[in-house]
Amino acid sequence: MRNEKTGYWPGIMLVAAVVSGLQLAAATAVLAADAGHGKAVFQTCAACHSDKPDAIGPSLRGVYGRKSGAADGFRYSNAMMRANLTWDDANLRDYLKDPQAKIKGNRMPFGGISDPKDIDDLIAYLKDNK
Ligand code: HEC
Repeated sequence: MRNEKTGYWPGIMLVAAVVSGLQLAAATAVLAADAGHGKAVFQTCAACHSDKPDAIGPSLRGVYGRKSGAADGFRYSNAMMRANLTWDDANLRDYLKDPQAKIKGNRMPFGGISDPKDIDDLIAYLKDNK
């Protein structure tokens, strides 16, 4: 039956509302990196990158936006000292995908992460980890 007030068929209004809701949900899923999941991925890094003075790797607290090889009190390899990078999205993405390809001869004993979504989520976590 036709709705007397709006002049529209109620069913059509409902379909339009559902479709725009779905589009919104899809757009959000593509845009938002998930720092919560990034924290879970970080567990594979935490064994070396703890904040303890005797840790195998440098502290990654505040690493986002920092110069490479700049954590206080950590003895980096020459390769890392010479890399002269700023840890922004692009450099972190390349390095975490394939550390040896990005900085040849660096001493991080880690093969890299293959899933780009894991890397994006991890970077979102590192940004928050100040
Ligand atoms: C088995 C130990 C180990 C694991 C696992 C590891 N790292 Fe590292 N990482 C290191 C070491 C050692 C260095 C220093 C390398 C050098 O000096 O050449 C380093 C360096 C880095 C740097 C450069 C830091 C700086 O101050 O310039 C980043 C960024 C980094 N690691 C991120 C990660 C992330 C993210 C993960 C997890 C996906 C990870 N690492 C897993 C040992 C590790």
